[in-house]
Amino acid sequence: MKHFECGKLDRIIGGILKNLVCKGLCPDGIWQLSDAVKSVLSYQISRLPRRDVSETDTRYPVNPTSMRAFLSVFFTRHFFQSQNSLIEYMTSQDFLNIVDSGNLRILDVGSGPAVASLAVTDMLACLLENLEYVEEWPKGKTVKITYVLNDTSNICLGTGQDMLCNYFRMRTGHTKSIMNNHMISINHAFPDNMSQLQRVRLNFGTYDIIIFSYVILPLNEENGFSGLVDGLLNIERLCSHRGRVLVLQDKFQTTLVLRMSKAIGVSSEKQVLTQQVYPKRNDNEVYTYVYNRCLYATVVKRKIVRQSSIA
Ligand SMILES: C[S@@+](CC[C@H](N)C(=O)[O-])C[C@H]1O[C@@H](n2cnc3c(N)ncnc32)[C@H](O)[C@@H]1O
Repeated sequence: MKHFECGKLDRIIGGILKNLVCKGLCPDGIWQLSDAVKSVLSYQISRLPRRDVSETDTRYPVNPTSMRAFLSVFFTRHFFQSQNSLIEYMTSQDFLNIVDSGNLRILDVGSGPAVASLAVTDMLACLLENLEYVEEWPKGKTVKITYVLNDTSNICLGTGQDMLCNYFRMRTGHTKSIMNNHMISINHAFPDNMSQLQRVRLNFGTYDIIIFSYVILPLNEENGFSGLVDGLLNIERLCSHRGRVLVLQDKFQTTLVLRMSKAIGVSSEKQVLTQQVYPKRNDNEVYTYVYNRCLYATVVKRKIVRQSSIA
């Protein structure tokens, strides 16, 4: 197995790799779906019935009609926000060392139809394609991905599994270096499911990327603010040494995000991205969105807490 050489890797990390991935997924600064994800999304939408649904059902799909509405309205928006938020980390040495080990474990809490998991998967496929192009990834080597999808809505879990399986089934050149190793669905609500998440970690290893995409609002409503904070603090112990926790939420919930990030001792920032709307409503429809992001390494955080308690 060819290992990354630090000097060479640093050169690549010095922006080249990120630029290559951007060129593939975000040409001219506009995020676009890869052909593989476009096919998976169009196929899934085409199988679902079209009918008017309420705003709440569109956000929190519980049946086939609301799932269709969610996939048409929110899928790409949240998908691109995950990619935009993770591109820096996924082209960093920490992440490259994880993929070099041959395994990646993703925990997607409030996964919906596996939106963020698909975003990470597709960006990883693009990353490995580019690493191979710059001769930093041996031909034939694969990364095995373990997915833990957690959602209280069964249609979300079922659709998420279908979409991930269809993505891998396409077996385009794009996905030849990644493998769907395990897919575990948990419909027990977070954070009451902590012991289940711990058991999965014991069996499959610590999670490398833990994602809370557009779920802290319902978690706050269901468990109260202290329940949300305790859940986030407890999940930190399940995150791997080089891993990250990602929290995403829209700009209308900035107060909640600021309160939450302060309570758990991390920073949050506003991010802006421009994306192509998909499925298309008009030709070349492009939108810019502002959203909140928290991305943190739990290992760094624990070190800071330990140091400040010593001081
Ligand atoms: C707005 S959707 C976001 C879906 C996806 N993460 C995304 O970014 O598009 C929020 C999801 O969280 C799920 N959810 C709500 N409360 C939950 C809980 N306590 N545990 C797990 N999932 C929950 C809902 O069923 C819904 O599918």
